[in-house]
Amino acid sequence: MFEVHAIDPERLPELLRVMPKAELHIHIEGSLEPELIFALAQRNGVSLPYADVAALRSAYAFSNLQSFLDLYYAGASVLLHAQDFYDMAWAYFEKAAADQVVRAELFFDPQTHTARGVPMGAVIEGLSRACRDAQTRLNISADLILCFLRHLSEEEALATLEAALPWREHFIGVGLDSSEVGHPPEKFARVFARARELGLHCVAHAGEEGPPAYIWGALDVLKVERIDHGVQAIHDAGLMQRLADSRMPLTVCPLSNLKLCVFKTLSEHNLGQILDAGLCVTLNSDDPAYFGGYLNDNYLQTFADLQLNAQHAYQLAANSIEASFAPEADKHRWLRELTTCFQSFEQRDGMPLRAG
Ligand code: HPA
Ligand code: ZN
Repeated sequence: MFEVHAIDPERLPELLRVMPKAELHIHIEGSLEPELIFALAQRNGVSLPYADVAALRSAYAFSNLQSFLDLYYAGASVLLHAQDFYDMAWAYFEKAAADQVVRAELFFDPQTHTARGVPMGAVIEGLSRACRDAQTRLNISADLILCFLRHLSEEEALATLEAALPWREHFIGVGLDSSEVGHPPEKFARVFARARELGLHCVAHAGEEGPPAYIWGALDVLKVERIDHGVQAIHDAGLMQRLADSRMPLTVCPLSNLKLCVFKTLSEHNLGQILDAGLCVTLNSDDPAYFGGYLNDNYLQTFADLQLNAQHAYQLAANSIEASFAPEADKHRWLRELTTCFQSFEQRDGMPLRAG
């Protein structure tokens, strides 16, 4: 691990903003800003139960995961055509580029759309075209991860995976999201086995609100390569050891945890403890349009409230690159760029002020 030398703490926010980083936990439907929801509603003739953008935004006060999901699924109802999915993802990529995101792995929820009669092809083709343009126009490497809604049955998840297979080359993995408690990973053992057979990467939300047992289940039954959230692991010492020893990445989303009342305040978040325990933690935005911030907002607010330092910044950005499913050559290049970025901050600090 690159050892960070003295960097003026006052320059830490600037460093957080400009360092290259990967985002591995972003639900693309959760990047739909109220303004775009209203624009798409008008374009598609969908009526919304809110008078205007301000009224919708003022409904964004959540008490737990479910209270958020109800609004999140309602917001996604304006998405009908491939172009809508493209526009949503493109708006996210522009924000990600400004946040120096070099790699983005986007979750999408096909069942939210196919249940309303939207064709699978419209969803995947719109998102996939935005990913290709992100590479050519913004130099962001981007891929898609298809998520199953865990409040629905495993049969529906299996049918969704089969329905997506004509677009197999357009997504790199599968995930598991929506209402966690009462829907343990074991419910999806067969669909994840099928996904692994197909050579897809596997990740799952576990330990956001659910118990450590759900994280064990995701590891041992679903055989995931990353845990999304995972903050409840702190309550199980044996699990913490397993996660540390295996360098199993956790994609942690501090502003999401704050808005969904997983922690009362950001300063009570256990990110610092999980990092100090040696886990491969990454920072992510989850549903940035709903939780009050994109990736750099998560870095800036978390670092301020938990009093983290430049070494933590390097560690989190390096973890995000290491934990990504990008080609190894790209990961090595981004790690070199990350180190160069930090060195440039060190050197500038060390430079004597020029006279005159
Ligand atoms: N948790 C579970 N499901 C989700 C989330 C989340 O934070 N965001 C969108 N779907
Ligand atoms: Zn999530």
